[in-house]
Amino acid sequence: MKTNNEMLLEVEGLKKYFDVGNGKTLKAVNDLSFGIRQGETLGMVGESGCGKSTAGRTILRLYEPTAGSVNFQGQNIVKAKGSTLKALRREMQMIFQDPYASLNPRWKVEDLIAEPIDIHGLANGAKERKMQVERLLDRVGLRSEHARRYPHEFSGGQRQRIGIARALAVNPKFIVCDEPISALDVSIQAQVVNLLQDLQREMGLTYLFIAHDLAMVKHISDRVAVMYLGKMVELAESEELYANPKHPYTKALMSAIPVPDPDVEESKERIVLTGDLPSPVSPPSGCHFRTRCPFATEKCANEVPIFREVEPNHWAACHYA
Ligand SMILES: Nc1ncnc2c1ncn2[C@@H]1O[C@H](COP(=O)(O)OP(=O)(O)OP(=O)(O)O)[C@@H](O)[C@H]1O
Ligand SMILES: [Mg+2]
Repeated sequence: MKTNNEMLLEVEGLKKYFDVGNGKTLKAVNDLSFGIRQGETLGMVGESGCGKSTAGRTILRLYEPTAGSVNFQGQNIVKAKGSTLKALRREMQMIFQDPYASLNPRWKVEDLIAEPIDIHGLANGAKERKMQVERLLDRVGLRSEHARRYPHEFSGGQRQRIGIARALAVNPKFIVCDEPISALDVSIQAQVVNLLQDLQREMGLTYLFIAHDLAMVKHISDRVAVMYLGKMVELAESEELYANPKHPYTKALMSAIPVPDPDVEESKERIVLTGDLPSPVSPPSGCHFRTRCPFATEKCANEVPIFREVEPNHWAACHYA
């Protein structure tokens, strides 16, 4: 993928806390700072509940952040109001894991895809609206007669194509893809990934691509961020992260990916996670990962590791990285 060093989006100190009753706070997103370059795909991985979707939604301000800023081409979306916010929203879209749940079953595909066009007033009259919908259908590999059908008439992969067409309708620059292929049959996953990559090339899109496991994001991502309990623990170029993981949690995730070569598989450093994922309402002191880390020391219990650049362009939050 063609990227340059210019940041399209810069996230600084982003936090999203949820009040979960009894005076308790769940720190779903706990102080994220990173940038996404123009034209790149940044993969974001981590176990269920580590805050990936919350991060994606807070970046788009679908959730009000508890703290922090999100600068999109120099404009802070957290502070934006009225028409500025609306204009920013048009640039930033989301594709969801479950396309069926995100599509109103009583609407025809035509109206589902045209909804964002209508909201942003992007079509001059019914004819132009129809033409735009047809162009979008074509772009995502569906046919114009699909416009008059309802979501239940489509397969999972086709529904995700409808979701993608909806996101593209406003001609955005940035899309949060929140596990867009996790719910699809394995045979369909590659098709949807290829479509997203083609669209990226044709339209110069920038993606935040959220996934459960490292294997899934490896090929799509220019860089990969690993999340654990609301924090980023590692961030590096995709190749570099796989070849040279620095954080024990990343190494543990990597241990779970089988390598085809038996010699490599046998000699691979293997870290097996022990213990359960702690509750994000009461994470461990110091390093949140220490309760499952085979290398944890007293320092890890007492000091929060700083997310630092351990090698050029390779960031990790571990005292011993
Ligand atoms: N609206 C909410 N109110 C309270 N807690 C929430 C809310 N949304 C998310 N959470 C909690 O925040 C944490 C992060 O959730 P999130 O959905 O962002 O994780 P995730 O990494 O996307 O998980 P998954 O891989 O299962 O999609 C979880 O503990 C979740 O229970
Ligand atoms: Mg999620």
